[in-house]
Amino acid sequence: MWKGAAVLILGLITVDWHFRYRQSIEIPKLDNDYWGPGKAVPDSKEIKPFEIDVAKEVIDDLNHRLDISRNFAKPLEGVGWTYGIQTPYLKTILNYWRNKYNWSERQALLNKYPQFITKIQGLDIHFYRIKPEIPKGRNMRILPLLIVHGWPGSVVEFQKIIPLLTRPQANRDFVFEVIAPSIPGFGYSSGASKPGLSAAHIAVVFKNLMSKLGIEEFYVQGGDWGSIITSILAQLYPKNVIGAHASICYVETSKSILKSLIGSYIPYLVIDSEYHSRMYPLSDHLTRLISESGYMHLQATKPDTVGVGLTDSPAGLAAYVLEKFSTWTNPNFTARDDGGLLQKFTVDELLDNLMIYWITSSITTSQRLYAETFNKAFRKLELNKIPVEVPAACAMFPNEIFYQPESLLSEHYTNIIQFTHLPRGGHFAAMEEPQLLADDIWSFARKVEQQIINKSRGK
Ligand SMILES: *[C@@H]1O[C@H](CO)[C@@H](O)[C@H](O)[C@H]1NC(C)=O
Ligand SMILES: *[C@@H]1O[C@H](CO)[C@@H](O)[C@H](O)[C@H]1NC(C)=O
Ligand SMILES: *[C@@H]1O[C@H](CO)[C@@H](O)[C@H](O)[C@H]1NC(C)=O
Repeated sequence: MWKGAAVLILGLITVDWHFRYRQSIEIPKLDNDYWGPGKAVPDSKEIKPFEIDVAKEVIDDLNHRLDISRNFAKPLEGVGWTYGIQTPYLKTILNYWRNKYNWSERQALLNKYPQFITKIQGLDIHFYRIKPEIPKGRNMRILPLLIVHGWPGSVVEFQKIIPLLTRPQANRDFVFEVIAPSIPGFGYSSGASKPGLSAAHIAVVFKNLMSKLGIEEFYVQGGDWGSIITSILAQLYPKNVIGAHASICYVETSKSILKSLIGSYIPYLVIDSEYHSRMYPLSDHLTRLISESGYMHLQATKPDTVGVGLTDSPAGLAAYVLEKFSTWTNPNFTARDDGGLLQKFTVDELLDNLMIYWITSSITTSQRLYAETFNKAFRKLELNKIPVEVPAACAMFPNEIFYQPESLLSEHYTNIIQFTHLPRGGHFAAMEEPQLLADDIWSFARKVEQQIINKSRGK
């Protein structure tokens, strides 16, 4: 009890201190830095149509490497995937990759939606841009929507959700135009040649991409790194971002940390009892986070070292990436010998995602994002202290890796107009539960649009 009271008092003091402190934080001005090789040259104005077209030699080389993959260590008995991927199951995936996966068919599918490449700040930026097809005679507003993937994902995550967003709905007078870029260093977007390209600098790159497309006002959506990058976009450019929808909302201030601790003692101050187990006991959740985030420490410190093996060996790449698609989809899958991989995904779509990393040799550059963001220079921007003031939505999928309740998040997202607890789904929501996620985005945009209409009527 005394411990509880002490935490409470300490909390109040910190809250007070925090509010005084926050007054002084300004939105940082990030420059249009040049990330290409050598000396800065102006970006070409060109926006080139693009199709994935992999040379036969690349596929032959991949097949050869799959043919000569070695025998892996036998897993311990009865441990499932708790020590990492089960190698006998990995072998069945590699066998499928070598003998059944048909790249020419899959490549055609990935080329189904229009893609482009353009230079932004010296980087090649690859993106899908899908305009809706509006039936004749229907008058609809077109809402541009920037959707951003995460790690170890890619634009492959969005293949199923794109049509759900760009197809007009019967009862809506708006529809989305989707812009889905590859994060710099991922797939066909080139990595930086210079150090420092953090999530915040990527937000600048994407803002410049939208401007280059002639789009000054747009919605944003993201999961994983996509959530971080799009919420920074909303912080840096509140006049340009109409609404921010995320499947990971995150707050990290002294006040939120204290409130989380206080909730250990007096939960109802912080969280509805229904969702109590999503956050408490804190020690259980921290244990899971630690057991799931070893990769993060590695990539935040020595991304280039770990990248070598993954760039050289398709087996290594598959093991490293697919393990995440198992445990981040459902923690219970670690108990299964097959990691539950095919419970929510097809082997083809999992391999499509691997292929994007493999054919572009981009796993190392993708991993550098951790090193460029989890560092002093990024912390010095103090973005955690700048609120997201645009209308925001948090879509909470039950198997997401961590959870914070609205009572904490509303400190950072000061205008949450939708907070949904989805019935199922995990970390790779767009790929796993595209319909649930799309419905949540539609419903969010309807609320924001209604607010805008109400406001303009009020004037
Ligand atoms: C792959 O798919 C293409 C197109 O459907 C087909 O022509 C080709 O024969 C297939 N290749 C193999 C090895 O099955
Ligand atoms: C994991 O398994 C436990 C025990 O069977 C069950 O209570 C829980 O709902 C499962 N969690 C998920 C996310 O499926
Ligand atoms: C907009 O106005 C309508 C009618 O006055 C009201 O019912 C609705 O709740 C308002 N919506 C928002 C999002 O403000």
